[in-house]
Amino acid sequence: MRPFSEAELLAAYAVADRTRPHLRANMIASIDGAATHQGLSGGLNNPADKQVFDLLRRLADVVLVGAGTLRAEGYGGLRVDEEDVAWRRAHGLPDHPVLAIVSSRLALEPSSPLFTEAPRRPLLFTHEQSPQRQRAALGEVADVVVCGHDAVDPAGVVAELVVRGMPQMLCEGGPHLLGTLAGVLDELCLTVSPLLEGGGAVRILRDAPLAHQPMRLAGVLRAEDMLFLRYLS
Ligand SMILES: NC(=O)c1ccc[n+]([C@@H]2O[C@H](COP(=O)([O-])OP(=O)(O)OC[C@H]3O[C@@H](n4cnc5c(N)ncnc54)[C@H](OP(=O)(O)O)[C@@H]3O)[C@@H](O)[C@H]2O)c1
Repeated sequence: MRPFSEAELLAAYAVADRTRPHLRANMIASIDGAATHQGLSGGLNNPADKQVFDLLRRLADVVLVGAGTLRAEGYGGLRVDEEDVAWRRAHGLPDHPVLAIVSSRLALEPSSPLFTEAPRRPLLFTHEQSPQRQRAALGEVADVVVCGHDAVDPAGVVAELVVRGMPQMLCEGGPHLLGTLAGVLDELCLTVSPLLEGGGAVRILRDAPLAHQPMRLAGVLRAEDMLFLRYLS
């Protein structure tokens, strides 16, 4: 059972001009602001959220993910389903978006399905101080982009993706990466999950260098008790 029609989601989330650079993030939180349940975001979502999550991937040229989320959530090769492939082909897009990873320590295995099962060669953003040997090893399976001195520079990431012809950028978190990107974010899609989580879970933004950034509510969808909010910078 799909709570939303395809037309409804496209009307809510498709951008008017795909050539215009747009960095969108998609995150989920409980009513009390928890970004995880027992260490993962999976305990917060439901089929309606999965539908929005998949639709946002369908619309993306590139999906940016922090290494912490890849490790915690066990991401494999980034692949959209057949229906999304058909839509993308009909709109002149490559079958799948590119996965762009952000990492400092580069504690990722080149033999991971992230790389070996990727339909498109992933990008890996890192900085000058990251381990050289690991960088060379990962360079066999991904395009490594050095961007920043001792941390990955968010504006540099956006500029690089635009130059590479990927202006529709989707960040799927996690909280540390979103904190890094907060200053260059154009849109935040936030699912509010009808749960009081309690405990010490992280929020969707961690270690953000700026605070109190105003955003404008641009859309609201509802599926039973779940809310889907679109905020623009
Ligand atoms: N609620 C949601 O919507 C949502 C979404 C995604 C994830 N999550 C949850 O969030 C948790 C993970 O949190 P997290 O904050 O650790 O996730 P994260 O942001 O995906 O990963 C943090 C790691 O990403 C790398 N990184 C991020 N920004 C960087 C920068 N500017 N420069 C260099 N490296 C950078 C570093 O990788 P290295 O460690 O490799 O150096 C850093 O340790 C998991 O429990 C996951 O389930 C929730």
